[in-house]
Amino acid sequence: MSRQPMGATDLATSATTGVFGRRSGHEQVVFCQDPASGLQAIIAVYSTALGPGLGGTRFHPYLSEDAALDDVLRLSRSMAYKNSLAGLDHGGAKAVIIGDPATGKSEELLRAYGRFVQSLGGRYYTACDVGTDVADMDVIARETRFVTGRSEVNGGAGDSSVLTAYGVFEGMRACAEHAWGTPSLAGRRVGVAGVGKVGSHLVGHLLMDGAAVVVTDVSPQAVDRLRLRHPGVEIAAGTDALLAADLDIYAPCALGGALNEQTVAALSATIVCGAANNQLAHPGIGSRLRERGVLYAPDYVVNAGGVIQVADEIAGFRFERAKARAAGIFATTARVLTEAAREDLPPAAAADRLAEQRIAAVGRLRAIYLTR
Ligand SMILES: NC(=O)c1ccc[n+]([C@@H]2O[C@H](COP(=O)([O-])OP(=O)(O)OC[C@H]3O[C@@H](n4cnc5c(N)ncnc54)[C@H](O)[C@@H]3O)[C@@H](O)[C@H]2O)c1
Repeated sequence: MSRQPMGATDLATSATTGVFGRRSGHEQVVFCQDPASGLQAIIAVYSTALGPGLGGTRFHPYLSEDAALDDVLRLSRSMAYKNSLAGLDHGGAKAVIIGDPATGKSEELLRAYGRFVQSLGGRYYTACDVGTDVADMDVIARETRFVTGRSEVNGGAGDSSVLTAYGVFEGMRACAEHAWGTPSLAGRRVGVAGVGKVGSHLVGHLLMDGAAVVVTDVSPQAVDRLRLRHPGVEIAAGTDALLAADLDIYAPCALGGALNEQTVAALSATIVCGAANNQLAHPGIGSRLRERGVLYAPDYVVNAGGVIQVADEIAGFRFERAKARAAGIFATTARVLTEAAREDLPPAAAADRLAEQRIAAVGRLRAIYLTR
C-alpha cells in the first residue's frame, strides 16, 4: 500500500514481520485520480477471504490525503467484521472520495470513479455512505456493474435505513432478553439520540412494541418531522438531558464517538444499542461500560441491516429475503452477548473474536481446490 516503489529493505521487512506499508493487514489499497474531473479517491480492500469486498463510498472534504487514507483503512477493516458477523459472503472494503459532496460532485467525476471500481474486476462492490446517495450509485453504475445501493427504478433496493432500523430493533430485543429475561420492550423507556432516517424508523418499531420513547436531535426539522409521525414521543432538550433521563435503553443513532468517558459516566440506561457507526470513542470504553454494569450491543453487529440489504441487491433484491436475514441480527446479538458473558469479555471484544473466527473458518475453505 506504500506509494513509493518497494525496495529490498521493504521486502525484507515484509517477509520477516508480515507488515507491509504504513499499516498491516489490508490486501490492496488503490489510489485513483482523474485530474480533469477532480477525482481523488482511495479504495481499500481489507479482506476477500469471505468473498468480494463490500462497503460504501464516503465523499468527504478530508483535510489531507493522510486523513483520507487513515479513514478508508479503518472503515474497510470494520466492514470485514460487519460482513462476517452478518453472515454474508463478502469481505471488507470501503472507498473514500476526497471533496465536498455539496459542491464537488459531477457526472464526470462519479463516472471516472465508476471506471476505477470496474477496473478491480469485482474484488470490490461499492454502495452509499456518508456523502453519497442512491442517485450517485445510479451514475456510477453506468461505468461498473460492481455497484449496489441503487434506486428502485433502476432495479436497486433503495434506502437502506428501513432494514437498518429493523436490525437495531431486533438487536435491542436480544439485549432485553439477555438482561431481563424477555425480549419484549413493552413498558421500557428508550432514549433515541438522532431521529434521522434510521432513528425515526426505530422509534416506530419501539412504539409498536409498547415502549415509551424519548428523543433528541440537533435538527429542529428532524424533531418536527418525528412529532408529526409520532405525536406521543417525549422530546429531550439535548443529549445531556437524554442521557440523564430515567432510561432503560439508550440508542445512539447520530454520529460516531457517542460513547466516551463523560457520556458513559452520565448514562442512566442499563442497555446501549443503537445504529450509529463507531460508537466507542476508543476501545477502552467497552470495558468502562462493562464496569458500570451497562450491556453494550456492538454497533456493527446491530446496524448490519443496511449492508444485508445492499448485499441482497447483488442477487436481485427481494425485500422479504433481506428482512429475514436482518431478523437474524437477534440471534447474532444473543450469541455475542452469551460469548461475552462466558469468556468474561466486553461484548465488542467477543464480537470481534466471533467475526475473526468465521473469516478464518470459512475463508480456509478456499483451500479446497475446485475446477472452474
Ligand atoms: N442509513 C443506514 O442504512 C445506516 C446503516 C448503518 C449505520 N448507519 C449509521 O446510523 C447513524 C444514523 O444514520 P442515518 O442514515 O439515520 O443518518 P441521518 O443523517 O439521516 O440522521 C442522523 C440524525 O442525527 C442528527 N444528529 C447529528 N448530530 C447529532 C447530535 N450531536 N445529537 C443528536 N442528534 C444529532 C442529525 O440531525 C440527523 O437527524 C449514522 O451513524 C450512520 O453511519 C446508518
